[in-house]
Amino acid sequence: MMQKNLISNLSLLPPDALLGLMAAYKEDTREIKVDLGVGIYKDASGATPVLRSVKSAEKVLLTSVTSKAYEGPRGNQVFDNAVEKQLFGSKSDTVSSGRITSFASPGGCGALSVAVGFVKRLKADGVVWVSNPSWPNHAHVVRAMGMKTDSYSYDEIQDGENAGQIDFEAIKCSLDKAEPGDGIIIQGPCHNPTGMDLTNEQWKLFARLCTEKSIFPIVDIAYHGFGASLDEDLVGVREFLELAPEALISYSCSKNFGLYRERTGCLVAQSQNAEQTPIVASHLADIARASYSMPPAHGAAIVATILENDELKTEWINELDEMRDRIKSLRSEMAEALRSHGKDEAANRILRQKGMFSLMKLKDGAAEKLREDHAIYLPGSGRINVAGLKSENIKYVAKCMAPYLF
Ligand code: LMR
Repeated sequence: MMQKNLISNLSLLPPDALLGLMAAYKEDTREIKVDLGVGIYKDASGATPVLRSVKSAEKVLLTSVTSKAYEGPRGNQVFDNAVEKQLFGSKSDTVSSGRITSFASPGGCGALSVAVGFVKRLKADGVVWVSNPSWPNHAHVVRAMGMKTDSYSYDEIQDGENAGQIDFEAIKCSLDKAEPGDGIIIQGPCHNPTGMDLTNEQWKLFARLCTEKSIFPIVDIAYHGFGASLDEDLVGVREFLELAPEALISYSCSKNFGLYRERTGCLVAQSQNAEQTPIVASHLADIARASYSMPPAHGAAIVATILENDELKTEWINELDEMRDRIKSLRSEMAEALRSHGKDEAANRILRQKGMFSLMKLKDGAAEKLREDHAIYLPGSGRINVAGLKSENIKYVAKCMAPYLF
């Protein structure tokens, strides 16, 4: 007897919005085309080169790495400790008191999946709250891990002396429905997709809110160093972690080390006391074991080599500064070009926002029209990867986009 065609129960899924855009851009044969889609840094020539510090570290690794045997559930522990230092600073009581454990992971996304799996163990029928808007994959990861998701408002105040700041009252209001044991994903510096960050004061308010409501925070950091210097970028996050006793932090090295395809991330867990750390670690290891088993090694070894070597670290920081400065100057050029079309509000917003992305307030259907008529690629949300702009095409982009901007 022929087996029933079981796969016929499935229908074709649309491609992931950002990855689909990436593929469509590649296939576009028009001479002038602009890729403002997926969040990848590009230099003035439009390339995403391997960082010089990364190349130097790879040269070191070519001779120093003598085995490809498994490293164990936590991966490269020099890397784990280096990420802890990045997060908490070099002299942290939280780290020295044994309240922290960290696991290398396949990118920030791997860390997020394990983090959500952990929150599920605290309360299986809980909800994981995600900002609206957010990186679309946040809700996707939560659902794929078998948890429910809901969203909290994340928008700027329109008028008055705090215009342009995130409306924290609205965040609070949308979390009225949150129950003890729920989880929440809060993005660190350079919010994706809005480019609008919480103030340091709001980070403190957020920590108090999570504590009062017993919501378990997952702080997602994917753009460390793209908003300001490494220390400045984390002022708010560090204050949050001082006040919120329990938290998970997913840290990605994809963007700031340019290691995208190496899948280099770390999941860092902070417990209320050192006695709980081995318990937390045992669950994180257990969740990861059932998924990817053990983390990839090469990217983590590169980061460890860079962060443990003063010369390489200085070179990396210079390269990170270069990337950040270039994005900032592209923001200024784009703002000027938008002003020349009378789009002052959009210009002010792009200057206020930080990091790789800006969320343009575009009319419905604008992204499709820009793609079809002008070969400008951006997702339907109106998010642009500022690093995808070039001095040569900024005027073109602003001119094509202006009619669609509110
Ligand atoms: C983005 O938001 O474009 C990046 O984080 C890349 C991705 O995986 O979506």
